[in-house]
Amino acid sequence: MKTSTRILGATLILAATAAIAAENPAVVARQDAMKTIGMSTKVLGDMAKGETAFDAAAAQAAATAMAEQAAMVPALFEPEEDDPDSEAKPEIWANWDDFTAKAADLEAAAASAAGSITTAEDIGAAMQAIGPTCMACHRTYRE
Ligand code: HEC
Repeated sequence: MKTSTRILGATLILAATAAIAAENPAVVARQDAMKTIGMSTKVLGDMAKGETAFDAAAAQAAATAMAEQAAMVPALFEPEEDDPDSEAKPEIWANWDDFTAKAADLEAAAASAAGSITTAEDIGAAMQAIGPTCMACHRTYRE
């Protein structure tokens, strides 16, 4: 196969992979929770970067939504379900107490942000408290 054909083939495979969505409803539900958490993070991140105007009510609502979804993580992940589209690692169920503790860390950081964001300056501190909790869990438990 010529290099150009190989690259095209690889690109097509990548595009196809990205287009596949999870079909297992339990996996869809936990991914939806993470999507909501991701969108809430973006709301706060865009305000932190000045890409959207500071809006205390919107920031508090985003942080509240994040805390609510984080609180549902244990229930959503408890069934050890898999799907070709899932990025969840089996270590989740082997280290369940640690995994749920990391979800609780996010919940606490988000709940604290929801109660403390009143000025634009508060967003940066909230992001600094929330961001590491995402990383701590993804590093170990997400592909
Ligand atoms: C307690 C662990 C944990 C925490 C905390 C956590 N995540 Fe996740 N996240 C996961 C796991 C596991 C997956 C993969 C789920 C799957 O594909 O089945 C995931 C997937 C995602 C996805 C992809 C969802 C999709 O479309 O499939 C996004 C976006 C995401 N997380 C954002 C975040 C952000 C932003 C934070 C912090 C504000 C965060 N997560 C905190 C465990 C966590």
